[in-house]
Amino acid sequence: MPKILVVDDDKDLRLSVTSALKEAGYATDEAADGEDAVTKVKAGSFDAVLMDVNMPRMTGIEALREIKSHDASIMVMILTAFSNIRDAVEATKIGAYNYLEKPVKSDNLVYMIDKAFKTQSMVRAMTLSAPIFRLPNGTDFVGQSSEMKKIFTVIDRLAQTDTPVLIRGESGTGKELVAQALHFYGPRKDNRFVAVNCSAIPESLIESEFFGHEKGAFTGADSRKIGKFQYAEGGTLFLDEIGEISPAMQVKLLRVLQEKKFTPVGSNREIEANVRIVAATNRNLEQMIKNEQFREDLFYRLNVLPIALPPLRERKNDIEALSAYFIERFNSRYKKNIKGLTEGAVTLMKAHKWPGNIRELENVIEHSFVLENMDLIHPESLPEKLQSGVSTGSVLSAGTVVLDENGSEDTSEMGDGLSVSVSMERFDFQASKEEFEKQFLISALKAFKGKINQTAIHANIPKKTLLRKLEKYGITARDFTN
Ligand SMILES: Nc1ncnc2c1ncn2[C@@H]1O[C@H](COP(=O)(O)OP(=O)(O)OP(=O)(O)O)[C@@H](O)[C@H]1O
Ligand SMILES: [Mg+2]
Repeated sequence: MPKILVVDDDKDLRLSVTSALKEAGYATDEAADGEDAVTKVKAGSFDAVLMDVNMPRMTGIEALREIKSHDASIMVMILTAFSNIRDAVEATKIGAYNYLEKPVKSDNLVYMIDKAFKTQSMVRAMTLSAPIFRLPNGTDFVGQSSEMKKIFTVIDRLAQTDTPVLIRGESGTGKELVAQALHFYGPRKDNRFVAVNCSAIPESLIESEFFGHEKGAFTGADSRKIGKFQYAEGGTLFLDEIGEISPAMQVKLLRVLQEKKFTPVGSNREIEANVRIVAATNRNLEQMIKNEQFREDLFYRLNVLPIALPPLRERKNDIEALSAYFIERFNSRYKKNIKGLTEGAVTLMKAHKWPGNIRELENVIEHSFVLENMDLIHPESLPEKLQSGVSTGSVLSAGTVVLDENGSEDTSEMGDGLSVSVSMERFDFQASKEEFEKQFLISALKAFKGKINQTAIHANIPKKTLLRKLEKYGITARDFTN
């Protein structure tokens, strides 16, 4: 049961808020000012703090700072009188999750808190369950679907062996990460992980790239050069796009795998190969064997321990964990504080087919980062290709819990906090914004059956602004009463 600290110098308000929260199933405690709140937070384990701004001894804003530096994961919501709304907006910039305007209606309060916890627990669960393999370059290998959990167990086991591994999977499914995890979680981790992209090396150079050459071995071989097999001595050699190597190289590779020895070009000296081979491909090697493009004997050598990465569309349960992971990374890269995705955005992400797999997902999240100006990624910030079939109604079903930063009543600005679906054909900010506002208002009115008060509360629009906008767009609330 989540525990909430209610902080206000007004005793009656504390009582009414705590009783509403208790009734909704939350555990509560009370504090009468900022200092009291900080002491209690440090002593106890609270999941959220609901805090007034103007209080004796220490203001809510100061207390917010202290609470956040003590434990950033505590969700702080500011309760404020309308006259202090600017402070509340400031508070969201220093880490408050949200702010609610006084007088607080218990229904509205409980609705907001429920939603906030739902979103938070989603993000938390994702972050907790996410990283299983942490790679030295700072990347995590993330997955929470049953398919990926199985693969993680297999990697864990295979990392301890020296047998070749063949990694199969569509482009962008994480084959390179598997190869790295096999290396860095095994006994060879202190030696090199050397990746070679077989399709990137010209046919004439590949043998020397792999095995090295003696000085003068061929025209242009000005000095002796060691090859990747020697460079990776004691470590792992990752042969990416193995399906692309020529039949001649396939024979040579087979020999190394069988005899664990190779000969540099132009040399008569055999060298022991102490490398673990991990290969990857997105090609259909079985078909290539039938077409006599890939040697069957090499295939069997490599395919002793295969790992098949399923495409993302077949493990949609990973979408949330991966999104949370990329959100964290982009938060630090872009110095933003996006907290997750709305339910609507998750629904769209799950409906997408992801032909580019995780690489595509990473790009989609980055794209949304650039467009999103609230602290959850909304459907409208996702790229067009994910949006087909979306009505703005999804904005509501998304259950946005975070108020628009401009959500004050002073408001020519109102609406700028909403994301606008940008159409490439009509790249006009003002027109797109107005179109979005209009559609949003219509969906909101439909959802709340034309009731102005409810629409204003649930869609986070000050009532006055709502009325003004309806007039501007010629929308009649009564048209939506049923
Ligand atoms: N499970 C995952 N967790 C975190 N990041 C991932 C995961 N899978 C893939 N990625 C990221 O997605 C991108 C593509 O992954 P990777 O390069 O390993 O794919 P690939 O299968 O080798 O693709 P290709 O066949 O195109 O080379 C990388 O940036 C990688 O870090
Ligand atoms: Mg790759």
